[in-house]
Amino acid sequence: MCDNCGCETTEENIFLPKEAKIIKAVQATADVKLFTLKMADGYIHWDPGQFLEVSLFGYGEIPIGFASSPTRPESFDIAIRTVGRVSGAINKLVAGDSMFLRAPLGTGFPINLLRGQDVIIVAGGIGLCPTRSLIQYIMDRRDEFKKFTLIYGAKNPSQQMFKDELATWKKSSDIDFYDIVDKADENWKGEVGLITSLFAKTNLNPETRAVICGPPIMFKFVVMELNKRGIKNENIFLDLERRMKCGVGKCGHCQINDQYVCVDGPVFPLSKAKQLEEAL
Ligand SMILES: Cc1cc2nc3c(=O)[nH]c(=O)nc-3n(C[C@H](O)[C@H](O)[C@H](O)COP(=O)(O)OP(=O)(O)OC[C@H]3O[C@@H](n4cnc5c(N)ncnc54)[C@H](O)[C@@H]3O)c2cc1C
Ligand code: FES
Repeated sequence: MCDNCGCETTEENIFLPKEAKIIKAVQATADVKLFTLKMADGYIHWDPGQFLEVSLFGYGEIPIGFASSPTRPESFDIAIRTVGRVSGAINKLVAGDSMFLRAPLGTGFPINLLRGQDVIIVAGGIGLCPTRSLIQYIMDRRDEFKKFTLIYGAKNPSQQMFKDELATWKKSSDIDFYDIVDKADENWKGEVGLITSLFAKTNLNPETRAVICGPPIMFKFVVMELNKRGIKNENIFLDLERRMKCGVGKCGHCQINDQYVCVDGPVFPLSKAKQLEEAL
């Protein structure tokens, strides 16, 4: 029985791409498109932090994180930044078109270790997309978690995604939300600087569980801030990105030492991530 929507789950062939229909497609920023999807044939089951292999015939297949929570199972979101051939082709699709998916893949955020605890999520840039799945999950099951803090950094105001949700989170008493941009524009009235400077505004209990998702350069400095506040490495989890092909532990493209990022991750406890990520 599925924990999220209560339906019966069935075994599926994970190598077989399945058709998903685009219900809605909007530009989240100039180069990131947010798609709301429904499987053409039945439901999909996922945990926050898991990912999909998204394909378009004639172009290829790319790994993309779920950007919405399984507590909202009627449809699901993914957000794709145009960086190359496949992402560029997919981002030309519009509502009514189809794309093809293999999902759910990977090991997501350790919800059972976060439940009943204070939680902080630190999201940099497009890292807000996979963490949005966890943010929505916590907000939808708010009484299962204690204090919830979210820190979000973007390069500039035009790169901020999900602006309506940011405004809602700012007003909500369920979440301590802080955002910042590296560089302001003439209309920006908020904080300017590095994401780590926002930690001065937080009031974190040393037992807080932390989730970090963003550019690897950010990880080391965010971990230092968390450690300064007494948060132990065993309570810090990182969402890593690696080049992937199969997404199911067969091709070895994502392998580092004895770990396959596609099945053992992409979310790793910091102790394990330190063995995989040289920057840490
Ligand atoms: C688990 C996971 C989740 C991801 N979630 C998202 C998401 O939610 N939204 C999103 O926009 N992107 C996400 N990505 C990154 C996305 O998969 C790549 O941007 C995509 O594969 C690029 O393919 P392409 O053919 O368009 O570009 P290519 O032509 O292959 O590459 C263009 C540029 O992107 C870089 N690139 C390619 N693949 C990756 C990768 N895996 N990681 C980092 N840089 C890469 C290349 O080095 C090159 O500079 C995720 C990656 C992983 C592994
Ligand atoms: S992508 Fe093939 S083993 Fe991980």
